[in-house]
Amino acid sequence: MKTLDDLLAEGVAGRRVLVRADLNVPLDGDKITDDGRVRASLPTISRLADAGARVVVAAHLGRPKGAPEAKYSLAPVAARLGELLGRPVALATDVVGPSARSTVDALVDGGVALLENVRFDPRETSKDAGERAVLADEFAALADAFVSDGFGVVHRKQASVYDVAGKLPAYAGGLVLAEVDVLKRLTGDPARPYVVVLGGSKVSDKLAVIESLLPKVDRILVGGGMCFTFLAAEGLGVGDSLLEADMIDTCKRLLAEHPDKIVLPADIVIADDFSAEANTHTVLAANIREGWKGLDVGPITVERYAEVVADAGTVFWNGPMGVFELAPFAEGTRGVAQAIVDSSAFSVVGGGDSAAAVRLLGLPEDGFSHISTGGGASLEYLEGKDLPGVSVLEG
Ligand code: 3PG
Ligand code: MG
Repeated sequence: MKTLDDLLAEGVAGRRVLVRADLNVPLDGDKITDDGRVRASLPTISRLADAGARVVVAAHLGRPKGAPEAKYSLAPVAARLGELLGRPVALATDVVGPSARSTVDALVDGGVALLENVRFDPRETSKDAGERAVLADEFAALADAFVSDGFGVVHRKQASVYDVAGKLPAYAGGLVLAEVDVLKRLTGDPARPYVVVLGGSKVSDKLAVIESLLPKVDRILVGGGMCFTFLAAEGLGVGDSLLEADMIDTCKRLLAEHPDKIVLPADIVIADDFSAEANTHTVLAANIREGWKGLDVGPITVERYAEVVADAGTVFWNGPMGVFELAPFAEGTRGVAQAIVDSSAFSVVGGGDSAAAVRLLGLPEDGFSHISTGGGASLEYLEGKDLPGVSVLEG
């Protein structure tokens, strides 16, 4: 696999380099609430620009339906990227159209341009390889080399991630290399006990990773919305909590097969409404009331999970323990995250949401061994799935 260092050694002065970055940040209106992915993308872009390349950045934001939509414009991201780089970033108003071409033509050596949200073009995410190939050709016409640095999106077989790598000399960027290195450590011979902390809303999203991790890990500590389907599988009432009824049987089987590995919350913060002003109580997991919903794990759970994490050799954490965006339901996530910070285990935070939670809750980023920019991508890697955006660079 050729890398950014190889490209820099070849010399990039005056050459147009297309960089696929993952700049998919959470927004509140046009305000970026967590710019972690923009920051993580800086080193590769800066190194290229410093070496005199004309850098063309391609990225997506959210999931627009293949047509321009103002709320998914990369304009706020272009502004933030420019601030952090300390150089202006020209934003094209289209993906590969006249604005993209003239913006790239206007680049000077060391200049940086950002194409508008690649998902405004329906061919980007098309299932039809032929359609994607045509768009990939249009991306390729804007550049002389391609650097794949959008780790958070390498699990997507999309035109700007996968197909374009076959159309230009392609190189792995610094972020992709660093992320893959850490994940290799988790799949290789992780220090034991190997503890996975898994939250997030849906069991169905996490099932594949749970199944494939169970034989490899020592404990899976479950929190987040997905814990209620597991609690229901144990025969407990979960009131109005999030429940995936069609997954209960699967959860029952997993619990039966691995009774000592899957650990469920002992207590739950319940609320009468999904809001920061709701009435709340902390109850044992067996006592969730009818008409109330669980929105966080309780303090007994935090203490138990913290003990397991304290003794761990390796911790991988994906998914918040509760609705941490609302203050009354943030303590579970904060407490478990703090336990990971306090532990001397090799610790990896996997995912956009968990990484954002670390920063929004004010936890020290350097308290973790690695904070990944990719949730889906890191989970798919741990599941043993192929990451198309990486393997295309190996071929
Ligand atoms: C993410 O946020 O998970 C990545 O940016 C990929 O986005 P996607 O899940 O919409 O493909
Ligand atoms: Mg995602």
